[in-house]
Amino acid sequence: MTDTFVRACALAELEEDTPKRVELEGVPIALVRTEGEVFAVNDICSHANVSLSEGEVEDCQIECWLHGSSFDLRTGKPSGLPATRPVPVYPVKIEGDDVLVSVTQES
Ligand code: FES
Repeated sequence: MTDTFVRACALAELEEDTPKRVELEGVPIALVRTEGEVFAVNDICSHANVSLSEGEVEDCQIECWLHGSSFDLRTGKPSGLPATRPVPVYPVKIEGDDVLVSVTQES
């Protein structure tokens, strides 16, 4: 199987519960380090064209600042209205101090 992971940033660049927006192969990604793990979700809210990385992180969820839907960082599913569709989530690997994300493989 081809390895589709690409380097997103250094692990040290990610502050706990502070999302970081990166763009990988043209895909906007919100990277979040929380609860000892790193998650990658599509940065665009499924409700409107809003950057999720500008929202807050709590309980392994990222909140859209515009209308308040929160998305589970593990599954991308919204926990409440107005968003009804999940955002794509992507596999993350940590190698040394590098955070790698596979954007071609939604999980
Ligand atoms: S734009 Fe994100 S909940 Fe409305």
